[in-house]
Amino acid sequence: MRIFASLAIVAGIFTAGAAMAADPVVIKFSHVVADATPKGQGALMFQKLVAERLGDKVKVEVYPNSQLFGDGKEMEALALGDVQLIAPSLSKFDRYTKKLQVFDLPFLFDDIAAVDRFQATDIGRGLLRSMEDKGFIGLGYWHNGMKQMSANKPLRMPEDAKGLKFRIQASDVLLAQFEVLGANPQKMAFAEVYQALQTGAIDGAENPYSNLYSQKFFEVQKYITESNHGVLDYMVVTNADFWNGLPGDVRGQLETIMDEVTVAVNKMANDINERDKKRIADSGSSEILTLTRDEVSAWRTAMKPVWAKFEGDIGRDVIDAAQAANP
Ligand code: LMR
Repeated sequence: MRIFASLAIVAGIFTAGAAMAADPVVIKFSHVVADATPKGQGALMFQKLVAERLGDKVKVEVYPNSQLFGDGKEMEALALGDVQLIAPSLSKFDRYTKKLQVFDLPFLFDDIAAVDRFQATDIGRGLLRSMEDKGFIGLGYWHNGMKQMSANKPLRMPEDAKGLKFRIQASDVLLAQFEVLGANPQKMAFAEVYQALQTGAIDGAENPYSNLYSQKFFEVQKYITESNHGVLDYMVVTNADFWNGLPGDVRGQLETIMDEVTVAVNKMANDINERDKKRIADSGSSEILTLTRDEVSAWRTAMKPVWAKFEGDIGRDVIDAAQAANP
């Protein structure tokens, strides 16, 4: 009898062991953009590399285009453990840390290379940990690109934006940026933008070419001003309890993969935006306006007062470090 019982226990242990081996950790990676964008490509690359190297231990499921959670809900979903990875734009962390508002200051970065240099500084890397007290860990910065303004009328000078309704991401800096122009900014989830533009509920928006193209915003906006007035970048974030609860070797391998993917995304982001700019230009649906040096300088001057408003919250040291990254 006793032998049978022992055998049963041993068999039970083997079965449990087999079941454990057969049950990989599932990482749900939710985001709001299309697959053919820098973030979309990054998520798929992460999924592929994890399958190749950790396939028996970890499974990554990617949910693009707000199909699982929209941008208004994804942080909450991460906190609750409904998803394990998200990569919101840096404009969407307002509620969790004021420091990241630095990325929204208009005309702070000359180009995406300057953003890259700043993110690599100690201060930039430190910001990845700025939400740890809220239970979020930043695993890396992914680029999209510089933002362009779009509308149904040509925006050449700051006065042209006056009175227009612009969709903005949930960021108080972006709110201030349009308010100083005398425009009417409205916070809105990304998934709602196309329809709002199409129905005329809003007049304009701001986004890099990859989003303008993949969400078809260019089909419902007559003009795109190549303003390069701000940056749209991402932080890949995870839930600290989830991440720290992973076996050390698995976490280490995931971090290595994330670092590789980050390098790859940041190398290809510019090409994707250039490709999509060309597609928009070729479509003939929307005219791309380039600004003269004087026109750029007028926008810069008009938006500059926004900096002073947020300097206290962001910290002078952070703004200085960001500025020092310009060529
Ligand atoms: C937006 O809401 O405009 C962007 O943050 C979307 C994205 O994730 O690129």
